[in-house]
Amino acid sequence: MKLTDNTILITGGSSGIGLAILKSFYQLGNKIIIVARDIDKLKEVQIQFPEIAIFQCDLTNQTDIDGLIVFIEQNYSNLNMLFNNAAIQYNYDFLTEQNIVNKIDYEVSANLTSTIKLCGLLLPVLLKNENSAIVNVSSGLAISPKKSAPVYCASKAAIHNFTKAFRYQMEGINLKVFEILPPIVETPMTEGRGKNKISPEELVNEFMNDFKKNKEESYIGKSKLLKFINRILPKISDRILKNG
Ligand SMILES: NC(=O)c1ccc[n+]([C@@H]2O[C@H](COP(=O)([O-])OP(=O)(O)OC[C@H]3O[C@@H](n4cnc5c(N)ncnc54)[C@H](OP(=O)(O)O)[C@@H]3O)[C@@H](O)[C@H]2O)c1
Repeated sequence: MKLTDNTILITGGSSGIGLAILKSFYQLGNKIIIVARDIDKLKEVQIQFPEIAIFQCDLTNQTDIDGLIVFIEQNYSNLNMLFNNAAIQYNYDFLTEQNIVNKIDYEVSANLTSTIKLCGLLLPVLLKNENSAIVNVSSGLAISPKKSAPVYCASKAAIHNFTKAFRYQMEGINLKVFEILPPIVETPMTEGRGKNKISPEELVNEFMNDFKKNKEESYIGKSKLLKFINRILPKISDRILKNG
């Protein structure tokens, strides 16, 4: 993929991995639009990177998604890259959690449904432009889940499978479909838990090398090892991640 002169929408571009993706593409001279719920955080990021556009949007809300699509169609009809990066992670136990229905709905909607919807709703715009790509961010937890976040892990496994099947549908079309499978990364999402985390910048450096080479599945850092172990000894990879 060409890394310059693109118009790129990054969901969750105000924090963590999304912010690192923004920084990297910004330095390379791309037009960037970021989306998140917290308008203050969006504005703070815009102060640091004045040429970006920001759009406040809760991706679990259909009216907000509709507004985002109109905003893109009217202002950025040259959009050629979509990074589906926004997600949340709830850690809870099904034996004790009280608010189960709301949590399930919100997490599946934020992590999975919104990604699938944006792939479909932004496809007409992306197909009109050159060097077009969709990049979905899943997780090493798509390979083997952890006990503390069953719905998060399910949403990431679903993103992995959706991305593959969607890629099959895009074969022979001017749109490439990529997936990033991060290991544990030092971001607000993982604050106070996990160890041996890589920085978002390390992740993005590795991804950029893969992206340049059109590598469709970008297994980052320890996710590469996890994939290998899972292929030959799946019970071992499950055991490694279970209490992660
Ligand atoms: N960190 C890790 O170890 C790790 C590992 C594997 C995969 N990942 C994946 O990497 C991606 C980025 O994660 P991160 O660690 O960078 O998380 P993060 O720092 O918590 O950032 C999440 C971003 O998504 C936005 N967001 C969350 N819910 C949203 C919603 N309903 N609508 C719109 N925007 C929303 C947040 O902004 P607002 O709060 O303002 O909405 C924020 O900008 C996620 O897909 C995550 O699953 C992370």
